[in-house]
Amino acid sequence: MAPTRMRCDQAAAWQLLQDQYQQAGRLFDARAAFVQEPDRFGTLSQEAPELFADLSKNLVDERTEQLLLQLARECGLEAHRDAMFAGERINNTENRAVKHWLLRAPRIAGDADSTAVHETLDAMLAYAEQVRADAAITDVVNIGIGGSDLGPQMAVAALDGFRIEGKRFHFVSNIDGHELAGVLRELRPESTLFLIASKTFTTLETMTNARSAKAWFEQQGGRDIARHFAALTTNVEAARAFGINTTFPFWDWVGGRYSLWSAIGLPIAIAIGATGFRQLLAGAHAMDQHFRAAPLERNLPARLGLLDVWYRNFHGFGSRSIAPYHSALRRLPAYLQQLEMESNGKSVDAQGRALDYGTSPVLWGEPGTNGQHAYFQMLHQGTDRVPVEFIAVRSAAHGLPQHHELLLANALAQAQALLQGKADPGGHRNFSGNRPSTFFLLEALTPASLGALLALYEHRVFTSGSLWGIDSFDQWGVELGKVLAQDIAPRLANGETQGLDPSTAGLLQRLRGA
Ligand code: F6P
Repeated sequence: MAPTRMRCDQAAAWQLLQDQYQQAGRLFDARAAFVQEPDRFGTLSQEAPELFADLSKNLVDERTEQLLLQLARECGLEAHRDAMFAGERINNTENRAVKHWLLRAPRIAGDADSTAVHETLDAMLAYAEQVRADAAITDVVNIGIGGSDLGPQMAVAALDGFRIEGKRFHFVSNIDGHELAGVLRELRPESTLFLIASKTFTTLETMTNARSAKAWFEQQGGRDIARHFAALTTNVEAARAFGINTTFPFWDWVGGRYSLWSAIGLPIAIAIGATGFRQLLAGAHAMDQHFRAAPLERNLPARLGLLDVWYRNFHGFGSRSIAPYHSALRRLPAYLQQLEMESNGKSVDAQGRALDYGTSPVLWGEPGTNGQHAYFQMLHQGTDRVPVEFIAVRSAAHGLPQHHELLLANALAQAQALLQGKADPGGHRNFSGNRPSTFFLLEALTPASLGALLALYEHRVFTSGSLWGIDSFDQWGVELGKVLAQDIAPRLANGETQGLDPSTAGLLQRLRGA
């Protein structure tokens, strides 16, 4: 049983931060801070494995950072982090350890879980290489949802420059049959490999899509299920009962949204190969080591998580925008939405006591420069301040002249405009400025740098969740809707409305054409 952690609002530093916000934070102007602090860029930026981060355009000064660090120490962030890395059952509502970091750690002699991880990894990567070498397989279809979809889908797109030629990758997640039907139209059974990805192997959407895909395969004359279906799951028995014998397991201590490093990463391994997949793991492992060992003052995930607490609980900001300036990162905002909002979208602490402070902000975003022509208007001139996260990549993987310079110029210009603003008092062209942003810079978008970036976000979410005292590793909030859908499905057929609220009953009748 995880020890009860101190609630952050009980810590002395919480009150000091409230005072700091009232006295300085509320009126803080980052433009003035750059004048007063000649080395602000140096102190508020840092190297971390595989990336550079500039935090200097944020609404934070030295005293605030010191108080946030004090808050982290009072609330036992380091002990909580160490408990995760020691394999303690910190997911206390499900009584599970949280060990996704073990999936990317080198083999630990004598550790049974590490041995199982590496045996499975070796088998999965050998299988990936076999599929890569099999020219007859032209289409790989991943059927999964949530963490069994978003990670692999995001990473296969992000690492497009490393993708094997001659194979197409499809991701089917929605129970909406339009999605599966649209993909099946393009396929032939003899050249398709279906990967059924589900931690539990019970999820309604995935099981429905998997059954329909299997029925389609058989109707089209496909015979060899062993060659054309594989399952990625903790529930190997259920996969076998479904008729799939090629299975790659993982374990209950891997949360769905933290699972792309496990067998769930098989589509990534097929796309970029065993060496590339190992580089992805190595990049994440390097960030794990940084999070474990760097002093909090220079610990990037910790600093970012603390900034998130400052913005959410003292400035009252309700959302954060993700702006990847690389089109291959187009699925990153959706991936991060699950990572952060499913982890930290809670209103009780780990002991089930109601919280009276804010937790997860809303995350949203689109790749730049597209977002600039959609919602950046609101970021620059709207009434809410929304911290923006720019993710830029120094080198491009294409040979088109000028594009990359212009892309990077736009990223820099947007961050600059948010900070500087432009005076036109009372006018439509007034930009208030002093709008916070963080700038991440990757040398190149590679398996290793992507791995490090994703692990950075995981540990940042850990940090804010830890300070808020919540269990960041359960997701009870998705259960109720699942149960109610099971109740409503037969009512759509039989028209029974007893026990439904009038709105739901009315909609149900309309859907039945009554
Ligand atoms: O949305 C709830 C959830 O449990 C996620 O946490 C998970 O990633 C997703 O459903 C899919 O679950 P499974 O991998 O078990 O099919």
